Amino acid sequence: MSGTSADGVDVALVRILGGGFKLRFHLLSHKHIGYPPSVRRAVLAAMNSQRAAVSDLSRLNFLLGSLYADAICKAQRSLGIKKIDLAGCHGQTIYHQGEVSAFLGKKIACTWQLGEGAIIAAQLRVPVVSDFRPADLAAGGKGAPLVPFLDYVAFRSLRAGRIVQNIGGIANLTAIPAGAKPEQVTAFDTGPGNMVVDQLMQSLYGRPYDRNGEVAREGNILQPLLEELLDNHYFKRRPPKTAGREEFGREYIEAFLKKRGRASKADLVATATALTAQSIARAVKSFILPGAKYRDFIVSGGGSKNSTLLKILSQETTRLGLILRPSDDFGIPSQAKEAVAFALLAYQTWRHQPGNIPSATGAERPAVLGKISYV
Ligand SMILES: Nc1ncnc2c1ncn2[C@@H]1O[C@H](COP(=O)(O)OP(=O)(O)O)[C@@H](O)[C@H]1O
Ligand SMILES: [Mg+2]
Repeated sequence: MSGTSADGVDVALVRILGGGFKLRFHLLSHKHIGYPPSVRRAVLAAMNSQRAAVSDLSRLNFLLGSLYADAICKAQRSLGIKKIDLAGCHGQTIYHQGEVSAFLGKKIACTWQLGEGAIIAAQLRVPVVSDFRPADLAAGGKGAPLVPFLDYVAFRSLRAGRIVQNIGGIANLTAIPAGAKPEQVTAFDTGPGNMVVDQLMQSLYGRPYDRNGEVAREGNILQPLLEELLDNHYFKRRPPKTAGREEFGREYIEAFLKKRGRASKADLVATATALTAQSIARAVKSFILPGAKYRDFIVSGGGSKNSTLLKILSQETTRLGLILRPSDDFGIPSQAKEAVAFALLAYQTWRHQPGNIPSATGAERPAVLGKISYV
């Protein structure tokens, strides 16, 4: 897995048995392998839809395939696992447009992930499933979120309603009422995860992210600015909905910084941190809690290491009557969760089984996701 933060690759080595929503899995281990700074820069440049050169995108597609294969090899070596049977690779999203819009006389929604599966398969000598999202778009869905398959398999409970919240570059939640059938699962992107804070840290401090939320802790939340930022059409739109750098990327940050007035750098980071927490809490309050009873609020992703963010989120979710717990408490390390999800989705595809949850993506039907590269 490599997410919109473009921080690197998360590899999960998973043993999987059974199939469908009853499949069982055991996470053997996981490893995070950061992108070298030059690759991170190239990935972020590729997401600039106005400027990226086709030749660079094509090269990056093959380069990333090779880097993903290296990452899997490295993870296998460090864990002493000699043989794997199948690899799943989400790839790096460089463009995602989940909403249909008119284009040259047709209505189009589209998505594009880089990381060539054929290269990974050739290097590892195992079949590879990649390119998971297009099949869901082709079935009328938004192509995201796909992690709800894992969330449903791993976290559903007969007794407790659970909200599973991942905080990566973008923040997304999966809501599973007690005893829910798959079609009763709701999932959507709540808005920015670390994306806004990361970009502010980069442009104001020259650092990739706010380690442990230390900068935000020093700053004051600018309440009027926060209210203005929360008054955003994305937050008000009803799910299903998806977000990416298209919504909260460079242009968003430029507009944000224009509103800074005389605010200090730390105050801006504190306000962006509160924006992430509050937009999550408001999404839960407006779109999830009216529908069913929930008890647990399970967090994962790199954002769960930002203690300032987590403190605000914990206060807000407590106020909503929820108990915040890390996914680690449920046996899935928070940094590994999304990688585990794509291991399970690859396995589903290999067995010709669907991996999307239509109520989460808005698709008309379950779809077998991805493309297979054979050795
Ligand atoms: N120790 C930390 N303190 C604060 N934030 C962190 C820490 N470690 C990781 N992060 C945040 O998590 C992000 C990566 O999270 P990740 O779940 O991999 O997101 P994505 O799926 O978008 O790649 C980083 O860009 C950073 O914002
Ligand atoms: Mg990441």
